[in-house]
Amino acid sequence: MNAGRYGKVAVLMGGPSAEREVSLKSGNAVLAALTRAGVDAHAIDAGRDVIPVLERGGFDRAFIALHGRFGEDGVVQGALETLGLPYTGSGVLGCALSMDKLRCKQLWKGCGIATPAFEVLDAETRFDQVVERLGLPIFVKPAREGSSIGITKVKQPGELERAWETAARYDDLVIAEQAIVGPEITAALLGDQVLPLIRLETVTEFYDYDAKYLRDDTRYHCPSGLAGREERRVQRLARQAFAALDCGGWGRVDFMLDRNGEPYVLEANTVPGMTDHSLVPMAARAAGMDFDALVLRILDTSLTREGARRGPG
Ligand SMILES: Nc1ncnc2c1ncn2[C@@H]1O[C@H](COP(=O)(O)OP(=O)(O)O)[C@@H](O)[C@H]1O
Ligand SMILES: [Mg+2]
Repeated sequence: MNAGRYGKVAVLMGGPSAEREVSLKSGNAVLAALTRAGVDAHAIDAGRDVIPVLERGGFDRAFIALHGRFGEDGVVQGALETLGLPYTGSGVLGCALSMDKLRCKQLWKGCGIATPAFEVLDAETRFDQVVERLGLPIFVKPAREGSSIGITKVKQPGELERAWETAARYDDLVIAEQAIVGPEITAALLGDQVLPLIRLETVTEFYDYDAKYLRDDTRYHCPSGLAGREERRVQRLARQAFAALDCGGWGRVDFMLDRNGEPYVLEANTVPGMTDHSLVPMAARAAGMDFDALVLRILDTSLTREGARRGPG
């Protein structure tokens, strides 16, 4: 491998989002891997001054390790387009759509891709009627957040309004979703490949912030234990759901299976976690690819975008 072909690489991490701490972990893990591979990689804490910082730095491309708003929602991708700097992962549209769970679900519904039934909650909502329509339990989420931040699993009818208030602290756009019993499955995408599925088993009520980052009793099964045909079906669906949002390069699509094993798409992540405990690295390992090799494959997605997605000029 010729590490020089990538030129000078900015690893964008941190940033102003609620997922800043996780992003710093992802970014530092990526930086270490690139450095081990001999790539000329530099950490950039991507704040509001990211454009002048990148301009001054003389970079050839960017590895985006930002999670949440600003970095995973198309904003930084747009800045990089303006600068003419190639970057990893999905473009502006795919990132912007993926960050918004409401628009994703509307779009998937429109293309016949199954996603749990949902409604928008606001100050006018008749909460008792939503409970009647969706049934309990109901998941209430801020539409544009990640890491399970602001999410409540509502099990009693009287709790829905409080759950809306909690989610509304993070976003003025809040959705209520019918609960699907599980198991929970995640699909990692890399280039044209869908990596082996991971099945998640949590001790907590759902895969919340603690289960994701703090507890050590969350169990990850990869191989997933699904029958080969079911595994391939979910993998195909992951690719379709990702493509429907105009996403590409790499990412992760999350699913819940119902009692009959029917898959429902929950969400797509265009910049999933990249610590060595994260899910995409776990799926890559199951496919025989270690963390460092995975990081280089992701960096390669910035090479293919260079020609394919160039804007005018
Ligand atoms: N409709 C649902 N049915 C069952 N579990 C859900 C549902 N929506 C969310 N969850 C649980 O909540 C977790 C976080 O929800 P998700 O939509 O993936 O948001 P985030 O972007 O914060 O990861 C999921 O991993 C899953 O465990
Ligand atoms: Mg998720």
